[in-house]
Amino acid sequence: MSAAALTHRLAGREDIAAMTALMDAAIAELQRPFLDAAQIAASRTIMGLDSQLIDDKTYFVVEQGDALAGCGGWSRRATMYGGDRSPGRDAALLDPAKDPARVRAMYTHPAFVRRGVGRLILSLCEGAARAEGFVRAELVATLAGEPLYRACGYQAMERFVDDRGGMAVPLVRMSKAL
Ligand SMILES: CC(C)(COP(=O)(O)OP(=O)(O)OC[C@H]1O[C@@H](n2cnc3c(N)ncnc32)[C@H](O)[C@@H]1OP(=O)(O)O)[C@@H](O)C(=O)NCCC(=O)NCCS
Repeated sequence: MSAAALTHRLAGREDIAAMTALMDAAIAELQRPFLDAAQIAASRTIMGLDSQLIDDKTYFVVEQGDALAGCGGWSRRATMYGGDRSPGRDAALLDPAKDPARVRAMYTHPAFVRRGVGRLILSLCEGAARAEGFVRAELVATLAGEPLYRACGYQAMERFVDDRGGMAVPLVRMSKAL
């Protein structure tokens, strides 16, 4: 693979097919050290693409040349986590003066892990949220995501399980001052 630089831009609806394929690969492969096969299958119910973020222009892609390396975003809306097919989403707008911005749907292609793609997307999200007046960010991390967020200054607030996919999937709510 060439050593071309990573570039970034806002995601568009035309990126959905490629991003969905990337997410499928990341969910299947990168959670394997943390979850068993049944939990990974269940996690698909509570993870994935939230097209609201694309429409809100708060969702980024990172590329190396023509290759999609990762995607992820943030939100000024209440939903904490989940994709288009997850139950219980809430599109209510947050108040930057009292609510934390959400960090959402971070995925790196397995061929691009540990090259700073996640860190880059997170810094883009934090900068954009700060520019809109948010002073904190919150997220709900998978166990696969937790090391990235810890490395970027997020602290664990609460551990819980989500069993809406039919198996208990461990998750952790994390927070950071922006
Ligand atoms: C979480 C995820 C997006 C991280 O992506 P990434 O692009 O590999 O992360 P980065 O290269 O930016 O990592 C930055 C730092 O985070 C930490 N980190 C990231 N992945 C890690 C891992 N698997 N184990 C230990 N530390 C890790 C390291 O400190 C790393 O810095 P280093 O590589 O210099 O040591 C990726 O693993 C993924 O897609 N996982 C599956 C989907 C998922 O669970 N997403 C999170 C939803 S909340």
